[in-house]
Amino acid sequence: MELTWEVVFCLGIALLIHILIFIFVMAKRPKSIVGRHVVITGGSKGIGLCLAVECAMKGANVTVIARDEKMLRGAIALLEVIRQRPEQKFQHRSLDIGSDYDQVARVLGELEESVGDIYAMINCAGMAICGLFEEVAVEDVHKLMNVNFFGSYNCTRYVLPKMKKAGEGIIVLTSSQAAIFGIYGYGPYAASKYALRAMAETIAMESRSHGVSVTLALPCDTNTTGFEEEEKSKPRETKIISGGGGLIEPEVIAKAILKDALKGNFISIVGAQSWLITMLGGALMPWDGFFTNLLHATIIGPVRLLGYGLHKHFNGIIRKCAREDRALKASKSDDIKVEQ
Ligand SMILES: *[C@@H]1O[C@H](CO)[C@@H](O)[C@H](O)[C@H]1NC(C)=O
Ligand SMILES: *[C@@H]1O[C@H](CO)[C@@H](O)[C@H](O)[C@H]1NC(C)=O
Ligand SMILES: *[C@@H]1O[C@H](CO)[C@@H](O)[C@H](O)[C@H]1NC(C)=O
Repeated sequence: MELTWEVVFCLGIALLIHILIFIFVMAKRPKSIVGRHVVITGGSKGIGLCLAVECAMKGANVTVIARDEKMLRGAIALLEVIRQRPEQKFQHRSLDIGSDYDQVARVLGELEESVGDIYAMINCAGMAICGLFEEVAVEDVHKLMNVNFFGSYNCTRYVLPKMKKAGEGIIVLTSSQAAIFGIYGYGPYAASKYALRAMAETIAMESRSHGVSVTLALPCDTNTTGFEEEEKSKPRETKIISGGGGLIEPEVIAKAILKDALKGNFISIVGAQSWLITMLGGALMPWDGFFTNLLHATIIGPVRLLGYGLHKHFNGIIRKCAREDRALKASKSDDIKVEQ
């Protein structure tokens, strides 16, 4: 067949039709949570509270779970202020998700009886303890794994089989950029977040055909009270390295997470730096959209060099801090000698 302009024209039209079909038909429509039961752990502050607000704005029945009763009542009072529909139901449960599975299962079971089956389980409860590997206390590492991993594991373990049976549901797991790239001072924290990431990837693959979507949130530094707390224990190197990505407001992260969760996107990230790191470190994660994958395929080669540069840059920071520490020590011992 000769390549006449008619053939080229027809091919062009066919391509255009495919692209239009892709954009308008295949594009995911967000799910609705109006009147649906959404449970949010860690929902009394930070990203969790912002998510509770977003879900309430979208008309959901919201249950917030956290430990502190007073903060929980504050969260519910806030939800009442932004109530969208008179029949919306807001409730809270004080629960230490670091307790045993049976207790988590019992509380979630009671919740389902009083509000209805859980349609979306948003796992936001988490904590951060930073420090050099050998500096973090052994019991703190157990605490980190317990709250960050087992807390989300136990809640997910309870709801997932029910969601699969119902053929619908949304699970959100809040991990971190530290689950893509373990950096200085984040040892056990990063390990707990990596564990969540691995769990999310697995259950996403296992649940998709059952109508359950899984979203893995990978936020960078977020301006929350938890973050302020974590800054206190952070080594200087960690602050410089991790602070390079800037500080994002929790409202922004929460909006992005809910949007991705309702669209059924697996990955939820905010900002160019998170995108870059996630693409490089998580290339095998299920990135949605053929064009997204095509884009990654074309740029990942050269961008890989950026990763190399990033490591060089971070190592430079660590060396610089070490030099400064040595100089500080030397000047201190000089002072002592002078005093003597
Ligand atoms: C999760 O359940 C297991 C098994 O019952 C229990 O050992 C663990 O402490 C629980 N962890 C959390 C955080 O709920
Ligand atoms: C949400 O709460 C309202 C008011 O209690 C109730 O009528 C509705 O059935 C609830 N929806 C679910 C899914 O539980
Ligand atoms: C973080 O949030 C607090 C209170 O919401 C605000 O005062 C502060 O300016 C924020 N910090 C940054 C760096 O945006």
